[in-house]
Amino acid sequence: MADPASGRTPLLIDVDTGIDDSLALLYACASPEAEIVGVTCVSGNVEASQVALNTLAVLELAGRSDVEVAIGRRVPLVRELRTAPDTHGPRGLGYAELPDPQRPLATRHAADLIIEEARSRPGKVTLVTLGPLTNLAVALLLEPQLPRLVRRLVLMGGSYRSAGNTAPTSEWNVAVDPEAMQLVLRAFGAPDVPQRPLALGLDVTEHAKLTPDHLEHLARRAGCRSDGSSLSGGRPNAVVRFLGDALRFYMEFHSRSDGFYGAFIHDPLALAAALDPSLVRTVPVTVEVEVGGILTTGETVTDWRRTWGRPPNLDVAVSADVETFFTRFQDRVGRLAAGRAGVAS
Ligand code: BDR
Ligand code: CA
Repeated sequence: MADPASGRTPLLIDVDTGIDDSLALLYACASPEAEIVGVTCVSGNVEASQVALNTLAVLELAGRSDVEVAIGRRVPLVRELRTAPDTHGPRGLGYAELPDPQRPLATRHAADLIIEEARSRPGKVTLVTLGPLTNLAVALLLEPQLPRLVRRLVLMGGSYRSAGNTAPTSEWNVAVDPEAMQLVLRAFGAPDVPQRPLALGLDVTEHAKLTPDHLEHLARRAGCRSDGSSLSGGRPNAVVRFLGDALRFYMEFHSRSDGFYGAFIHDPLALAAALDPSLVRTVPVTVEVEVGGILTTGETVTDWRRTWGRPPNLDVAVSADVETFFTRFQDRVGRLAAGRAGVAS
């Protein structure tokens, strides 16, 4: 989805940083074809002000203190906020501790940043959401034309053919703010929007299973071990050390709740697919969000057999080339880590 003029893909990334969000941010920073226009923060894995601190700190770690970071809405549209300290740690980055960020947040609200940047280059920006859809829903309420002002929306959220991870049939990002997802789907999935949104749900993101071996490869690419210690006796690699500390927590969580010592890295796969949609195979379908259920609130109800007879509103990813994705993830983030430590790669 590169802009033909620049060859780069302008991205607005909405996050609830979160361990896998932090990996997605590092992947974006490490991708030469990505132009990060701004990053907006929403409550989800942790509360929005902690999300903002984490996001600033991760961007600083990656050497990208120039990227504007704005905070958005702190609670879902109508429901009470819930967070995920068991999955991501009390502050959202597992066991990792990063220095306090050295710069302030943007003075504009996340929704304003999204709207103003989309308006400033109509049809160019790809919106990527890696958390609950609250900020995007607020932006839509302020600017109903938003779906026609951006190139495409790519979202990590939902479980279309597989089990949920928050309730039996619902996925976290949708479950936290189902009304926001409903609003977003209706607006971005309208028939006159030039490109249908792309959704990566658990169906594909749970195939992106990061193991200690992946981390080891990435670390070697950066000239160090997976705890960040240098192979040649130099100083520790801060990026790899961060990854090791954050992922240890995430892997322990998955080992308790999913039965393997590794981690689903949902958000980096979604970010990678926003930059290169050929990483996923998609099917256009009609999807509604359950907002009134007793057992199923937040379920992405998908009309696979077209019983509703309505035009599709979402391109749902049904398979992903996770091998290519992991090769890119290791190479790119490994190179970034090497560069930050001044190691030739
Ligand atoms: C999603 O939920 C969050 O915990 C992750 O960051 C990811 O965006 C996966 O369901
Ligand atoms: Ca997330």
